[in-house]
Amino acid sequence: MKNILVIHYSQSGQLTEIVNNIARPLANNKDINVIHHQIEMETPFPFPWKKMAFFNVFAESFLQIPSKINPIPETILNQKFDVIIFGYAVWYLSPSIPATSFLTSPEAKKLLATTPVITVIGARNMWIMAQEKVKTLLKESNSKLVGNIALVDRHINHISVITIVQWMFTGKKKHYLGVFPKPGVSQKDIDESSKFGKVILEHITKDNLDNLQNNLLRKKAVVIKPFLVLADKRANILFGKWAKLIYAKGKESKEKRMFWEKIFNYYLLFAIWIIAPLVFILFLLTYIPMYGKIKRDKKYYSSVEIN
Ligand SMILES: Cc1cc2nc3c(=O)[nH]c(=O)nc-3n(C[C@H](O)[C@H](O)[C@H](O)COP(=O)(O)O)c2cc1C
Repeated sequence: MKNILVIHYSQSGQLTEIVNNIARPLANNKDINVIHHQIEMETPFPFPWKKMAFFNVFAESFLQIPSKINPIPETILNQKFDVIIFGYAVWYLSPSIPATSFLTSPEAKKLLATTPVITVIGARNMWIMAQEKVKTLLKESNSKLVGNIALVDRHINHISVITIVQWMFTGKKKHYLGVFPKPGVSQKDIDESSKFGKVILEHITKDNLDNLQNNLLRKKAVVIKPFLVLADKRANILFGKWAKLIYAKGKESKEKRMFWEKIFNYYLLFAIWIIAPLVFILFLLTYIPMYGKIKRDKKYYSSVEIN
């Protein structure tokens, strides 16, 4: 009998639906025992978000400062799992605070040690560097990443920005103004995600997880967009400076922190609508000389390797 833990955090339920679909072929197998656990915060984050609360999680998300999570049940902690499927959303180019809080907790370290992990991401589209941060945390926990599935909004970047803002601030995954596409991961991709569970099942049945990621990639578990890799890397450098500034201002006073979060809000609009298109032009102009690096990056970020 194989033991599989599916652990995740989702606000809207989007990622819950995804991990449930992925786990279904496993749960339907009589030789596999699947246990689900949803990470709970001691102080829950709001959903839908208010604008200030949304910007107030930036510094801690980016700096990967954990908050307290509710205890994981003893029945889970006392078991040894053959595989852990870990589902997380990306907040500000980093694992969400609940995801970081779990991964850095002593309980997680115990569960993760020497256990193979498959990550499942449900994000807008900027998850590359967040996954690098998760890879590092998993390595620190002595765990082995064997698979990654990243489901994203496939509409063009700026459309997905407009629609996700509506979704996050209203809580409704609807066609904005009746003309925009629905935000987030498409229902079709969510519904079809059980195909990844079938691939995982084949590997678990054969007791061999070695080539799992390559077989997941055949089903398009990860699709790398080279421009988003560049944008993610650049934005990480700038976000690092903003996050440190806002965190430091918060130590001085709540008012100062709020003031800088408002400025960051304007900066973010500027970065999305002005800087990102300029970076895109730069990306196009340097595409040919950078082709070798783009190809290497595509291979690396699709993989479960860690540099
Ligand atoms: C505060 C916040 C910041 C986010 N930042 C990013 C981001 O940097 N990149 C990204 O692809 N998605 C980002 N998202 C979208 C989430 O990754 C995720 O798709 C969405 O919150 C739905 O997840 P859920 O299953 O928890 O409801 C962000 C969401 C929130 C709430």
